[in-house]
Amino acid sequence: MKTQRQEFCPAHTTPADPPATKNRRLLALPLAVVGLAVAGPGAVDLGWYVPTGRATVVLLGLSLAIFFLGVRIRARHSVAVHAGEQLLQIGDRPWRKTRQVGRPGSPGPGRIRATRRHPVSQPAPERSPANVDIEAVRAEAAAFLELFRAENPQAGSIGPRVAAVMREIDLTGTYWHTPEELAFGARVAWRNNSRCIGRLYWRSLQVRDLRTVSNAGEVAGHCFDHLRAAHNGGKIRPMISVFAPETPYRSAPRIWSEQLVRYAGYEQPDGRVLGDPRYLTYTTELIKRGWQPPERPGAFDVLPLVVETVEDGPRMFQLPEEAVHEVPLEHPELPWFADLGIRWHAVPVISNFRLVIGGVSYPAAPFNGWYMGTEIGARNLGDGDRYALVPEVAEQLGLDTSDEATLWRDRALVEINRAVLHSFKANGVTISDHHTESHRFLIHLEREERAGRRCPADWSWIVPPMSGSQTPVFHRYYDTEDRVPNFFADDDAVRRGLQGGPPAFR
Ligand code: ARG
Repeated sequence: MKTQRQEFCPAHTTPADPPATKNRRLLALPLAVVGLAVAGPGAVDLGWYVPTGRATVVLLGLSLAIFFLGVRIRARHSVAVHAGEQLLQIGDRPWRKTRQVGRPGSPGPGRIRATRRHPVSQPAPERSPANVDIEAVRAEAAAFLELFRAENPQAGSIGPRVAAVMREIDLTGTYWHTPEELAFGARVAWRNNSRCIGRLYWRSLQVRDLRTVSNAGEVAGHCFDHLRAAHNGGKIRPMISVFAPETPYRSAPRIWSEQLVRYAGYEQPDGRVLGDPRYLTYTTELIKRGWQPPERPGAFDVLPLVVETVEDGPRMFQLPEEAVHEVPLEHPELPWFADLGIRWHAVPVISNFRLVIGGVSYPAAPFNGWYMGTEIGARNLGDGDRYALVPEVAEQLGLDTSDEATLWRDRALVEINRAVLHSFKANGVTISDHHTESHRFLIHLEREERAGRRCPADWSWIVPPMSGSQTPVFHRYYDTEDRVPNFFADDDAVRRGLQGGPPAFR
């Protein structure tokens, strides 16, 4: 299940402090906690040596007990401080028109394959502070805090915060971001996402701080709220909901679904697929797990949301109808198009990526922008292994499909895409076309350059899936070096989103 791949990661290369061995720190940990308990914060000396003998064993046992008690107290304290949902707007520009779209690419919708693993992200049943690569977490935290401070000078001096975070990491293997750090980290994760063409408005991402939420039912409920809030009556808001982080003492919840809204795929007796063929295996697996499809299955049946926790295993939640906004497709000139009965959901909320900020992993952090038309028209409806509408539409258009050189595919594809853009607009739901979005992306590049930052971009994802050379993003090269914070698609999460298992915790 685990990927051992480790690629270059800027945060891993910045040592946070003079080298100290992990073991020394970890051995000293329980004693340090005793020291902390006795002398109060600030008195921790991580250099204590560990004596042997019976008294020591007793002391060690006591220390461990105090340590775990401390962790629990800290967790409860966090609940008190961070309870409830907060919509973070810290340091934000006032809300205004924003755009975010992602590029549907070959491996799947909006998918970014994981290129790195994060030390605290491994779902290890025997998880404990001793299994965490403390040095790596410290280094990533230090690099992130430096970035935060560099871009938020109003936040003041970095010293005390870094010291506090380092102490927290040494004691618990992780740390708790301030709401400001969380919001900044999530926005920068978007800014760093090399496959997204819609990054111009990265600052406008609305961050819902749900880090105290880890129970499956509550996660699902907040996901439905996310859908409602992000839809916003059609004026889509880019938004992220950040649920409980992965910690050495508690595994974070996992959302199996690739997106909050996805359509079922059913194999028909004639071997063809009704619905979205991408989710054929997934749908079959969920049915085995007890999901009941509608009595008369259709091509756009919304799949249940699957949330897995250590305590409850995978649980399925039917989406409330009013939370799922859809747009029925019609064509501005071709009346028969509406009769095809095609529709698509309004908000693309990717829900199985792991958000990584400064050494902390948030495996459940669903986020959305709004659609760029080609994601639906060219890929979801156009791809041969998705809804594969092109031949049918070409037929209806009366095109000569006997010869590829008539470019019937291209012509039909254009009409499908016109229908998507037209219908979203007619229904008052935010969407953008690939020409507009390409221009915006170049503006983003310019701004990033002016800010003295490099902007990683993956040409093969940035260039739209139709009429590429008609867009300016086609005609240039990009920086490709990956950066953190970022969003990662872990292999096992990808598998769960397509195959419906195996569970993360067993
Ligand atoms: N391409 C994906 C889909 O069609 C959505 C990926 C995210 N897209 C976005 N515009 N934020 O369902």
